[in-house]
Amino acid sequence: MKTIKLTREHIYKGNLILVNANYPIVENIANKNISLIPFDIRYPDILMEYRAATVLSHLVSDLNGSDDIVPVSGYRPLREQEQIYTESLRENGEEFTKKYVALPNHSEHQTGLAIDLAKRQDDIDFICPEFPYHGIYNEFRKEIPRYGFIERYQKEKEDITGISHEPWHFRYVGYPHSQIIYEMGICLEEYIEEIKKYSLDSKGLVVERDKQKIEIFYVPILNSKEQMTVFLPDNSLYQISGNNVDGCIITLWRE
Ligand code: DAL
Ligand code: ZN
Repeated sequence: MKTIKLTREHIYKGNLILVNANYPIVENIANKNISLIPFDIRYPDILMEYRAATVLSHLVSDLNGSDDIVPVSGYRPLREQEQIYTESLRENGEEFTKKYVALPNHSEHQTGLAIDLAKRQDDIDFICPEFPYHGIYNEFRKEIPRYGFIERYQKEKEDITGISHEPWHFRYVGYPHSQIIYEMGICLEEYIEEIKKYSLDSKGLVVERDKQKIEIFYVPILNSKEQMTVFLPDNSLYQISGNNVDGCIITLWRE
């Protein structure tokens, strides 16, 4: 057995962190040691977290989509989110801004895990770019769950996410979480709650794909005094991500 110690810091970093109006990013923890790279070298200023960028670039090239799909906005430092928010308030007013621009420190773009994509055309709107529900754009949507991405702001979930429908905004959460979220028809807020049913001392959420068994567990941390010790099988690959709320999600690839 491997012994893993989880501290409060683990809550605030990883692929599955929930950043929304209720849960701000804890930047000094979430972005510590992340590397940012462009997902498309033709747009060197549009950056994403290394793994998200790598997977996205494979996805777009597997679809032969790089001439049609262009990045509009990826990682944003706090200062940029502040500027976008202030400018949008001035130009578009409060009602619009609240719908489509997250408050500074409440934007997924500050994590490097989110990207806005557009259909290639001459005038691309920076806040609401066009990403149609047909053709290559919808082929892209069909493929994303297998690559670890989700369509983050769906029409039916506006009440839960607090953000209006954004067909252009995609979020990396990692596989198999993306696939489960897609199949259950839920949003990230709902997934974070759903996972809490699966604790390490009972059964995890099991996904079986290509003879590989993947098990997902939730470990609460926020109310523990110092740290949580968890025991994981020696020969299994595992990944740990905080939920940015109160605990961690462990993904275990069983032998
Ligand atoms: N457009 C999304 C909600 C953001 O500003 O993060
Ligand atoms: Zn976005």
